[in-house]
Amino acid sequence: MKKLLTSKWTKVIVFLVSSIPFVFLAWGLLHNDLGINPVETLQHTTGDWTLRFLIFTLAITPLRKTLKLPELIRFRRMLGLFAFFYVLLHFLTYLGPDQSFNFSGMWDDVAKRKFITVGFAAFVLLIPLAATSTTGMIRRLGGKRWQSLHRLIYVCAILGVIHYYWLVKSDVRKPLIYGFFVGILLLWRVWDAYSGRKRNAPATVNTRVSTAGSPQQSS
Ligand code: HEM
Repeated sequence: MKKLLTSKWTKVIVFLVSSIPFVFLAWGLLHNDLGINPVETLQHTTGDWTLRFLIFTLAITPLRKTLKLPELIRFRRMLGLFAFFYVLLHFLTYLGPDQSFNFSGMWDDVAKRKFITVGFAAFVLLIPLAATSTTGMIRRLGGKRWQSLHRLIYVCAILGVIHYYWLVKSDVRKPLIYGFFVGILLLWRVWDAYSGRKRNAPATVNTRVSTAGSPQQSS
């Protein structure tokens, strides 16, 4: 298992698999095959994949600790960047087809519709996380500061769930399922912070940059 997780090919495979929703959307767009409302298909698919990638990113630390597979950290940055990639596409399908790139109309909408307000807030919060994901930025910020900043990903995931919950008209099952996973991951984080495990592992928080380019930490 460790050999598989440290192989460079596994990273390539994770990248290719993560790109599949984008490839399907691009193919559908080029072949006019995105259903009767292509903009809605684009918005819904990119919104869903943003939340899924946020959850995958948040799941890395609990999985690597509980399964004792530290090598999983190699995939966290890529998964987080895919979350940002899909939210950027999601935002652009809103700004372009919905708002015709009219920024003042967009601001009115951000101020008026509360589900857009929280979605926009989550998007804005994800920007510094994506911008500081490089190894150079981790070094510049230092592990502790980088770690504190990147805890914002929990806020983004919670805002993403609220955004989804507020936009659905009747069937709230899907946002609640996403909310369940985000809640479990958040509870795990709280439990991990307060359990004695951190104290017993003195090397868990430091400013050293790992081979994956992320500090060895637990957020
Ligand atoms: C982290 C940030 C965000 C997440 C996780 C997210 C997630 C989602 C999800 C899951 C959906 C519903 C997908 C479905 O129905 O299957 C959705 C729909 C939508 N989102 Fe977002 N979103 C985010 C940011 C934004 C932003 C920044 C905007 C625009 C400023 C936006 C505008 C919309 C719109 C217009 C819809 C469709 C609403 C409708 O069908 O009536 N979202 N989003």
